[in-house]
Amino acid sequence: MKLPEELQFISNARMLQKTTDARMDGRVCILTGATSGVGYQAARRLAQGGARLVLICRNDAKAAALQEELQREFNVQIDVVLGDLSRLADVRDVAGKILGNYPRIDVLINNAGVHNTRRILTADGIETVFFVNHLASFLLTRLLLDRLIASAPSRILQVNSQGHRFGGLALDDLNWDRRRYKGLQGYGASKVAQLLTVWELADRLKGSGVTINAVHPGEVRTNIGMNNGFLYRWYQRYLLWWILKDPVISGDAIYYLAAAPELAEVSGKFFNLTIEEKPASHALDRSVGKRVLMISEQLTGLSTAD
Ligand SMILES: NC(=O)c1ccc[n+]([C@@H]2O[C@H](COP(=O)([O-])OP(=O)(O)OC[C@H]3O[C@@H](n4cnc5c(N)ncnc54)[C@H](OP(=O)(O)O)[C@@H]3O)[C@@H](O)[C@H]2O)c1
Repeated sequence: MKLPEELQFISNARMLQKTTDARMDGRVCILTGATSGVGYQAARRLAQGGARLVLICRNDAKAAALQEELQREFNVQIDVVLGDLSRLADVRDVAGKILGNYPRIDVLINNAGVHNTRRILTADGIETVFFVNHLASFLLTRLLLDRLIASAPSRILQVNSQGHRFGGLALDDLNWDRRRYKGLQGYGASKVAQLLTVWELADRLKGSGVTINAVHPGEVRTNIGMNNGFLYRWYQRYLLWWILKDPVISGDAIYYLAAAPELAEVSGKFFNLTIEEKPASHALDRSVGKRVLMISEQLTGLSTAD
């Protein structure tokens, strides 16, 4: 039985995933959130494919252990740039260091993400999930955009989520000042905002040789949400854990989207792992997207020329 279009994501998750034999030898890949879960598996797969990795991490000790592991196992160059992606100043600092040290960028993968059950504001006064999942990835992408264009052909991958289907984006209350914070909706809002800006950036990048796409990395066993309270952690570890998959599938999908020659000119798409899929209709509203773009520029201190 064929599912209606809005439920197609359920059957897509069961489809045979695509793979590629293409190698990434020497290609410079910037990756956020590599110290755990999806990002960790992506880092391993990219290193196995020969990529030269620049890992943006907030935890010095975890980053050093990962760097040592990847260099030892795969004999590739792994660099680390430290920064907390919940802080505006750190995102700008990280971007500055990358621009200063890497004359070319082949792939940018914005993967770092969080899921909070409570509303927590960042040091800059912005709701944390919205900031880390959307604004930090948006700002980093924009600050590195000219370098990606100069390095074309190059690719940008936003690690998004089927959580965008939860909705939750209210442009008049992005910081949840007037509503009671709900974790799933806060998470959904951040992912909707990110998707809406992917379509806008894809338009802007047309003809530049730079592609930008979004991926849902599967429902996988990671540490996301494990910063929340006991009940949530118990639910995730003891109930959800058994139905979640091994995040190796996420790493493989990200590698495919970063490396597959057949995707060299594919841009402005949402992938469920490696299967192209139609996102929820509220994430396709281009007039809302243009407003989200403008608001995101304002909140991150970007000018339209940046
Ligand atoms: N797991 C799933 O089933 C699933 C489903 C859909 C989408 N996703 C998406 O996949 C991405 C990765 O999540 P995951 O499931 O792999 O979660 P995870 O295991 O918790 O990993 C998250 C990564 O992001 C990093 N990070 C979080 N906040 C950061 C900050 N302020 N500054 C710098 N780095 C930060 C973490 O660093 P530390 O190691 O220092 O904590 C970690 O490396 C997210 O965008 C998530 O929304 C996951």
